[in-house]
Amino acid sequence: MQIRPFISRWLLAAVLALAAAKIPAADSPREHLSLDANWKFHLGDDWPGALHLDKAGASTGPASEKFSDNFWRSLNLPHDWVIELPFDKNADGSHGFKAVGPGYARNSVGWYRRQFDLPAADAGKRIWLTFDGVFRDATVWVNGWLIKRHEGGYYPFREDITDVAHFGGKNTVAVRVDATKFEGWFYEGAGIYRHVWLDKTAPVAIAPDGVFVYPQQQSKPISEVADVRIELQLVNTENEWVAAMLNTKIVTPDGKILLENNGGAGIAAKDKNTIHTHLIVNKPVLWSPESPNLYKLVTTVLVSNYIVDQKETSFGIRTVGFDKDKGFLLNGKPYELYGTCNHQDMAGVGAALPDALQEFRVKKLKEFGCNAIRTSHNPPTPELLDACDRLGMLIMDESRLLGSDSENLRKWDDQIRRDRNHPSVAIWSVANEEFSVQSTPQGGNVARTMQNYVKQLDLTRPVTYAAPEGDTFAGINGVIEVRGWNYHVGKTDQEYGKDMDSYRAKHPDQPQVGTEQGSTVSTRGIYANDKTRGYVSAYDVNAPSWSNTAEEWWSVFAERPWLSGGFVWTGFDYRGEPTPYSWPCINSHFGILDTCGFWKDIAWYYQAWWTTNTVLHLLPHWNWPGKEGREIRVDAFSNCKQVELFLNGTSLGKQEMKPNSHLTWQVKYAPGTLSAKGFDAAGNVIAETKVETTGDATQIQLTPDRKTINADGEDVAVFTVSATDAQGRAVPVAQNKIHFAIEGAGKILGVGNGDASCHEPDTFIPQSPVRAIAVSDWRWKLAELPSKRGALAPEYAPAFDDASWNTIKPKTDGDTGELVLKEGQTAIYRAHVKLTQEDLNNPVVQIRFTGCDDYGWYFVNNQRVGESHDWQAQPLFEIKKALQAGDNVIAVGVKNDGGEGGLNPDVSVEIVGKPTASPWSRSLFNGLAQIMVQSTQEAGEIKLTASADGLQAATAEIHAQACTPRPAVP
Ligand code: GAL
Repeated sequence: MQIRPFISRWLLAAVLALAAAKIPAADSPREHLSLDANWKFHLGDDWPGALHLDKAGASTGPASEKFSDNFWRSLNLPHDWVIELPFDKNADGSHGFKAVGPGYARNSVGWYRRQFDLPAADAGKRIWLTFDGVFRDATVWVNGWLIKRHEGGYYPFREDITDVAHFGGKNTVAVRVDATKFEGWFYEGAGIYRHVWLDKTAPVAIAPDGVFVYPQQQSKPISEVADVRIELQLVNTENEWVAAMLNTKIVTPDGKILLENNGGAGIAAKDKNTIHTHLIVNKPVLWSPESPNLYKLVTTVLVSNYIVDQKETSFGIRTVGFDKDKGFLLNGKPYELYGTCNHQDMAGVGAALPDALQEFRVKKLKEFGCNAIRTSHNPPTPELLDACDRLGMLIMDESRLLGSDSENLRKWDDQIRRDRNHPSVAIWSVANEEFSVQSTPQGGNVARTMQNYVKQLDLTRPVTYAAPEGDTFAGINGVIEVRGWNYHVGKTDQEYGKDMDSYRAKHPDQPQVGTEQGSTVSTRGIYANDKTRGYVSAYDVNAPSWSNTAEEWWSVFAERPWLSGGFVWTGFDYRGEPTPYSWPCINSHFGILDTCGFWKDIAWYYQAWWTTNTVLHLLPHWNWPGKEGREIRVDAFSNCKQVELFLNGTSLGKQEMKPNSHLTWQVKYAPGTLSAKGFDAAGNVIAETKVETTGDATQIQLTPDRKTINADGEDVAVFTVSATDAQGRAVPVAQNKIHFAIEGAGKILGVGNGDASCHEPDTFIPQSPVRAIAVSDWRWKLAELPSKRGALAPEYAPAFDDASWNTIKPKTDGDTGELVLKEGQTAIYRAHVKLTQEDLNNPVVQIRFTGCDDYGWYFVNNQRVGESHDWQAQPLFEIKKALQAGDNVIAVGVKNDGGEGGLNPDVSVEIVGKPTASPWSRSLFNGLAQIMVQSTQEAGEIKLTASADGLQAATAEIHAQACTPRPAVP
């Protein structure tokens, strides 16, 4: 076997190790490893001077490799620290009144650190670090090297860290996250709230996001034949030209290799090359939301007959497009978009959604007929797209901001390359509601450039803009391929659809879509507006001035197929944007579902008109003690042709259902049973439903969404908590406080109840009690330090007699007293601290300094505990190992570089106790609450118990099954 000379040491080793010419897939050197587990986290900007721009590798505090983070909290990603913060009436309401952002400096900066080993055998590979999303303003160091500053909270970023990696040793990633500034006007969370990955590749490999596979329609319908185009970008980091062989295979949805081809390409030294190939698939199994069939492309790259890379890319065969008359087309046929806009935010977890919850949410949306999601107003988490590919859901993939500057186009490029293989992605959106610029020529220019950019990377998908304008063609609307409509449905019979009709009359060739509609507000289980408590009635009656009820907007769109359907604002409630009321309301009310995914009544309206299920639903509930004899409005959401309502068996009349509408009766309240029958056109009863007056709650119910989850430390079971009366009927008004306890192979991730005004915590994070003991009576003397700075000096020894040394004047003198060293001087400082054995029995004992100007070497009882190199640093060292019960001597060698300097004597020893958490609890809100349980990596049973005063407790068991967790960095 001939080995080309450019092949690196690593590849040579691999080649020698692998004798056979045909190498199994597992031998591809590519490793895609999760770096989510075992991070350390600290909240607070306690090392403001950590970033140094003067010298490479000179950063200090947690950015430095030497920093000890033992005393930081351990956690796994994804993580959103805002969910853990208290509510504050003075905080920003549009972000959910959480104590973060402007005015909350203490809560707005967080540090994350993670160490990992790289085996010596990895030398020669390329090592990539990828963050799918950090909110926001991330500064990343690897082994003390500043490798990335990345502001945007929604865009992924990636760095090749090979040059600074330690092969055969420990590597340290440190991330400072600064969420002081907001990007949106909705809850955004803070932290590393998406996945982190470590990728290892050979020096010749498929470039990151370097595979693009898409079906191209030929002259025949896509169902007859699909031309599957493949673009493969290869990267050569070697210093010499390389010849690569390529093998591409298409694997059918049922796992059979269908087609295969081979090719080759040369890649210049330190260069990239994109290779185009294609395979013809006859009679393809098409992808659609109803039948989400996924093919797989397996791409193998060989150099000198040895596999240097192999990658699997899942894809779907389908076409998307818009027609000016027929609206959205899927696989060439008109397909109504039953869409919802959504932010990434959920009860219990905030913005940090484990993949299982992405899947949970997609399923919840599908239940009422939603077939499309707009990722408003930012690029999505990739695992949401995976879930949509698998489960069948279309995506409008939106950028965060309009912009054609190089930075914005680079982000747009990253977004498109990352997301364009997903069959779920059906349309790109350049932006949302750019009020200031949208109707200007410049706005048009920028949108055109972004749209043209899409066409360079993806010719298969159309482009839109979520426009909040009416019949306006100036600026963006004049250049955009598909005109988007945010609102403008009109408020009266005369106005309904008028803007859209007149726009279409003037621009008949431009396709159109309802990018954002609805914004109907309702609170689950509430039937009257209540400003004091911040609730809105769940009848379909409330919408802000710019928007409409569900029935108003949907009726207009349903009658106009050329509008393509639309996207409701929103599928789920989300934190922030409390509308129409403010505090104590901390949530939006726009959702068809609440923040947990529980159905509001309006979900049945959409299910009636968006699905072919037979739907019959009555509202409100029938528990109205004290309202006997008074009229109560009863509505039916149904797609039956007629509906007849009964109270305690007596008919209250049959009514005809107009398409896309609802029915209403005024009913004099009497407790008992309110029931309804639904009829088809021939008068047959096709549906029946009832709501009953229940007794008081007596029993808790716990219902998991799944009985078995994977023991991979990531999977999540979502439990619905409810209360039933003595006859086992769900009590729709129960508000009991429920307490939870868990045993076995799981942990509680979060709790929620969908109450938009609830200020109970969603998480119960263990907190460590901290007791600070001041270290005072410092003595100091100008002294030589050992030439090897960190080495011991006789003056550091506990027994050294410092009686003749200077004392430090107390700060109250008006003169801080401690900054006494002149330029270039060195000194030693000493102080004593007495600790008891009880103090030392605590898990962590640390020492906190408030400043050392400029360099410090720190010793406790003659043992070196750390050093600092930055006059702004506020060093914190864990020192328990060096301590003893009784007297302890702290000594610091200090070198002042410029100006006056010295040690700030405000020093304390902190005794950090065992972290404890209050037990988990959550109140039912109108009969329901939710608790999410995550697996550990242990297989076994998970037992969850829910108890409440005066109610019979409930226990539910689920099983965490052994599985192969996804490949991860240990
Ligand atoms: C829209 C905006 C959304 C949300 C909504 C509330 O104008 O695009 O982000 O704020 O209003 O109705």
